[in-house]
Amino acid sequence: MSFRRLHPEQPDSFEFTPENLEWAKERIALYPEGREASAVIPLLWRAQEQNGGWTTEPMIRYIADMLGMRPIRVLEIATFYTMFQLQPVGRKAHIQVCGTTPCMLRGAEDLVKVCKRRIAEKAHALSEDGDFSWEEVECLGACTNAPMIQIGEEVYEDLTPERFEEIIDEIAAGKEPESGPQNSRKSSEPLGGATTLTDASILERGSDAEALIAAAKANGGKSDDHGVKTAAGATVGKGEDGRKSAAPAVMTGGGASEEEAVTAALAELEKVEEKEPQLFTEPPSEADDLKMIAGIGPKIEQILHDLGIYTFAQIATWGPAEIKWVDQRLKFKGRIIREEWVAQADALATGGRDEYVKRFGKEPR
Ligand code: FES
Repeated sequence: MSFRRLHPEQPDSFEFTPENLEWAKERIALYPEGREASAVIPLLWRAQEQNGGWTTEPMIRYIADMLGMRPIRVLEIATFYTMFQLQPVGRKAHIQVCGTTPCMLRGAEDLVKVCKRRIAEKAHALSEDGDFSWEEVECLGACTNAPMIQIGEEVYEDLTPERFEEIIDEIAAGKEPESGPQNSRKSSEPLGGATTLTDASILERGSDAEALIAAAKANGGKSDDHGVKTAAGATVGKGEDGRKSAAPAVMTGGGASEEEAVTAALAELEKVEEKEPQLFTEPPSEADDLKMIAGIGPKIEQILHDLGIYTFAQIATWGPAEIKWVDQRLKFKGRIIREEWVAQADALATGGRDEYVKRFGKEPR
């Protein structure tokens, strides 16, 4: 990417049109008092649009003044983000060609050649008629559909040099080319169409998937008959095998219901008196590698050891009162519940790695 600095020739002044000024005031009012600077990017963007597509020094000072910021802060933003152009751009289009690795491997260099031939040899220079300009930029976030370009707010993906030239022709003729993938691809699906989640009925209300989730909740988050560890009702109580089980939530992926389950379990914790769990004054002959539990790293493992906790079996017996006791000493409120330490420890204590994989569908750490 080229060095980004303000253009040597600058206009004398800038100010918003009355309509844009009104819009800017509304935008600023969205943020709390003292946080008006949060509106800097939308204001700069609107100002750039008003100014024919490029950002000027008077504009930066004007926006800074409006937001109570130092001009250098606004300059930093304008020079950092390639969405802000620092010199005049083509009247009809300023073309940004992604040149980062995936796009480069898929032919971005050929797109740059088209720019050089059709627009101008050098990036940021205007075409002879002043209608086009171009530049190479870093990843624009559409790598799956590489190579791609961006023009204003539109992206054109899965490009070939031939299709890119057609797009330039269409814009030159005053047309608006169809944006998005330029082959038969839909969005970022595989070229031949989706290969997974192809049954639309799973997204419908009352589907099997919903029934599965409902069953999982009713089941208190235990593995179902198919070994699927599902989003759990995070109530804290006794498991089927008599172990106390503090309930699970997050490892299974999923949405608001899991978060609700966690919240419910944490609320449950608030109600109980903390109780010291079984602790060893010194390690039993074989301490378990507690770091196999997702959420426990070397530092937390050391804290647990210092408390007298060395084995999966110890952790697997924790109920709400014991969880609360440990939680207080770890000073990571809610973490044991949120990361399902008890369920993980139970699996590891019961059947080691294999049981963990069976219940959670993935290897322990
Ligand atoms: S590398 Fe080109 S969009 Fe990401």
